[in-house]
Amino acid sequence: MTKPVTHTVTAGANIAFIKYWGNTRTPQNLPLNPSISMTLAACVATTSATPLPGAEEDDIQLQGTEPTQKARQRVVDFLDGIRTRTGRDEPLRIRSENSFPTGCGIASSAAGFAALAVVAAKAYSLDVDAHELSRIARRGSGSASRSIEGGFVELHQGVDDEAAFSEQLAPETHWPEIRDLVAVVSGGHKAITSAEGHHLAHSSEMLDGRLQAISRRADQVRSAIKARDLEALGEASEADALSMHAVMMTSQPPLLYWSAETISAIQCVWDLRRDGVAAWFTIDAGPNVHILTTATDLPKVEARIEEQYGWRTITDQPGMGAQFVEHEVT
Ligand code: DP6
Repeated sequence: MTKPVTHTVTAGANIAFIKYWGNTRTPQNLPLNPSISMTLAACVATTSATPLPGAEEDDIQLQGTEPTQKARQRVVDFLDGIRTRTGRDEPLRIRSENSFPTGCGIASSAAGFAALAVVAAKAYSLDVDAHELSRIARRGSGSASRSIEGGFVELHQGVDDEAAFSEQLAPETHWPEIRDLVAVVSGGHKAITSAEGHHLAHSSEMLDGRLQAISRRADQVRSAIKARDLEALGEASEADALSMHAVMMTSQPPLLYWSAETISAIQCVWDLRRDGVAAWFTIDAGPNVHILTTATDLPKVEARIEEQYGWRTITDQPGMGAQFVEHEVT
């Protein structure tokens, strides 16, 4: 009998310039709007999968420990989707580690489900292209769809499963100078998950206005990426983050992910810009603030934060898409 093979895949997290917020409330996670992000180089998940013929259930460890029942079920449901599609039924041993701490303002599910989609497809001999892998990853986490590819990536809005896939707008080598510095103003886990937030978005009176504005803003982001124009990208990213948080704050019940420090960080970015430093912010579903800057201006941003605020920071840059890293017989 041949021994089961372990495959291992790395995938980067990503930061969205145009945010995915709101979906069709079906298990397929079909986004209500297109979203555009940059895949990150340093913040990666490394995930391995080994088939367990004869085992009764998946053996899953995330960050070296048994996941909570809810987190485990999310992974099992995701794997069940691939098993149904491939007609395979043997469980998998899954081990996944992040290179970055949780609660640092970088979503671990994007990197984790992108790596899991690629490694599980391999384990079940599902031979599909990157667009199809992005559809598979989307079912685990919408933003994971964008981490299949490297560099600058768009997840299309989805009227159906076919339409909602991700594609690369430009590779990571296109704009090596751009930086994403996360000001970690507070750690810890968020009370309301993005999955719950995507459903709640429908209850906001501001959702329609956001969706109407997004097509023009997405055009601005695509052109800014093409031209490597940080000012245009930064303006659109700030506007989009504020629009998403306006939807969050006006949902019923309201979602307020910001802390007082989040507002200090926004003001810090605006002060930096007034002083001639290239700095624009974006904020995900949490209190931490991502500052978009250049390799040249990064030291000035870091110095200001260190001198005036003392927040911990994590800096990243454009990275590759999901990659196989090793292949071993266990
Ligand atoms: C605010 O459904 O991908 O980061 O809960 O991490 O799976 P998870 O989130 P997901 O929603 C992403 C929401 C966002 C914006 C974005 O990345 O587009």
